[in-house]
Amino acid sequence: MSGSAAPLGVFDSGVGGLSVVHAIMTELPNERLVYIADNANCPYGPRPPEEIVELSLGISHCLIQRGAKAIVVACNTASAAALSTLRNELDVPFIGMVPAVKPAILSTHSGVVGVLATPGTLHGRLYEEVVSQYGADVQVLANPCPGLVELIEAGELAGARTEALLRRCIDPLVEAGADRLVLGCTHYPFVIPTIERLYGGHLEVIEPSQAIARQVRRVLSEREFLANVPAFTPNQYHATGNPSALARALQTFMGISATVGELTWCNGQLEACDAQAK
Ligand code: DGL
Repeated sequence: MSGSAAPLGVFDSGVGGLSVVHAIMTELPNERLVYIADNANCPYGPRPPEEIVELSLGISHCLIQRGAKAIVVACNTASAAALSTLRNELDVPFIGMVPAVKPAILSTHSGVVGVLATPGTLHGRLYEEVVSQYGADVQVLANPCPGLVELIEAGELAGARTEALLRRCIDPLVEAGADRLVLGCTHYPFVIPTIERLYGGHLEVIEPSQAIARQVRRVLSEREFLANVPAFTPNQYHATGNPSALARALQTFMGISATVGELTWCNGQLEACDAQAK
């Protein structure tokens, strides 16, 4: 299958990419998606970039084998480490993520912008470039928020532990005067209600999933790859670790009941371990 009827591949280290999937489904309801959560290797944030490049290549090969016409790297950490390699080595268009620092810098009144993102994203070239390109007159303060991805994977979107962790990460940014908070990890939009309950009125939260969905539209449209009729087959969801985390997140975040196929890593390649995932 090629062109417009082929599916759009999307991947992340876990459930975070569903925040991007949600925006894509709203912007492009005809598109059929194949989603891979590499939760066997989650979190990506503290992993060395070369390891994330290998994982991203393995996942992308698997998506291409499943007919993907384009791939959305719905993970800031994988985009930071692997986007240029993926674009150089594979022959499908890739759409990646970079923290939405630019709109935050352009809209801040206090001149201080806070960023929450993983260590991998904050050490990456894409982040450094966007801060140095737009951040000359603004103070950009970042916090790697260790442990937040794990809590979100476990479905703890609120409650004492999540609130305490968010306060530890965000209080110093607010105390330094931040009036904008950029969510530079696709997992974090799922705790926006908790952030707003804790900091409503003090911080405007900025996350890029809708902008990414519009970028997906532009890329598909330029290549005449847009699906112009609704897909016959349902979206597919796969996990490399325990499938129940992704199934629960689909249900909780998006009200979708789906069977999650299991994939397993074997010598750098992803293989289906059940009939549904084949
Ligand atoms: N959701 C990912 C991101 O946007 C990865 C988080 C992680 O696995 O550390 O960075």
